[in-house]
Amino acid sequence: MIADVVVDLQYGDCGKGKVTHALCREGDYTHVIRYNGGCNAGHTIYHNGRKVITHHIPAGVFFGVKSIIGPGCVVDPTQFFQEIKDLEAIGIATRDLIYIAKNAHVITRDHLREDGTDTSIGTTKRGNGPAYRDKYGRTGVRAENVSSLKNFIIDIYEELHDNEEDVCVLFEGAQGFGLDVDWGDYPYVTSSHCTTASALLNGVPPQALRNIYGVAKMYETYVGAKQFEAADPIFEKIRQVGEEYGATTGRPRQCNWMSWDLLKKAININGVTDLILNKVDVLEEVGKWQMLVGEGPIMFPSSTEMQDWIFNHGKSLPTVNNISFSGQKDRI
Ligand code: IMP
Ligand code: MG
Repeated sequence: MIADVVVDLQYGDCGKGKVTHALCREGDYTHVIRYNGGCNAGHTIYHNGRKVITHHIPAGVFFGVKSIIGPGCVVDPTQFFQEIKDLEAIGIATRDLIYIAKNAHVITRDHLREDGTDTSIGTTKRGNGPAYRDKYGRTGVRAENVSSLKNFIIDIYEELHDNEEDVCVLFEGAQGFGLDVDWGDYPYVTSSHCTTASALLNGVPPQALRNIYGVAKMYETYVGAKQFEAADPIFEKIRQVGEEYGATTGRPRQCNWMSWDLLKKAININGVTDLILNKVDVLEEVGKWQMLVGEGPIMFPSSTEMQDWIFNHGKSLPTVNNISFSGQKDRI
């Protein structure tokens, strides 16, 4: 068994959908598995020139690869069926391709109602927190016990370990390191684990891990209740140019310069082998290049110099083999 992982190194919205989509097109994966989160996620994907936003369903479906919502996830059945309908409506075949692990948990109407009243964290109001709380409180509902999901349920152990084919899994993460329940800025976090380790909770042994694709942006964005954006009108410009509005909620994302300390920590903890920095073209259009290292900012005269700095410092980290840069407008 081989498993690659796509993991977000900042606060989500760094382009995991885009990277997963590109890897599925090129790779020979037998399965794509979403390993954490619920429909709080919004993955923006350009498929054959058309913009598609997925919430629950992994990007394997665009290429006919079996796409599974793993046991580390929570599922809202209404959203799930809506998403299948939306994909079918634009000509994406979903039949016999989309599955839910029988031990994934379900987001109920009560969870949605409760999360709907949140004001302190700035959640996506998709019921995520209450669903995970009930899972760990042992009062939750597993997907296998919901009759409407019956035709989509899969036993992930049998699927991965008793398969006659050689299994090659691509794990698609949701949210990001800065939102991880353990490593993020608690309590301004999501309720799931957003690291490589979290992928392993979905039934794959650590020995299967091959490439860890860590995705980040050339600046940071965050959506939620805490103050994140520094007082500088440049961030409004970055927001406009970078189209930094939530894919799930439409909320404006707060913007700030990249924190190298956060990125480095995320690379080290996730064991990133392939570092991908997105939205290089956004800072190029804005015309300013800055990064926070330790307490202070570092300024760069050009995009090339910022990229060189990241390349040299990134290359010196123990797990990193490859570093690449990509633009928002690059449809890789
Ligand atoms: P929840 O996951 O909906 O409970 O929200 C907790 C925090 O995570 C809030 O700050 C959300 O804005 C943020 N969050 C959750 N999902 C995403 C995502 O997919 N992208 C970016 N932020 C997210
Ligand atoms: Mg997103």
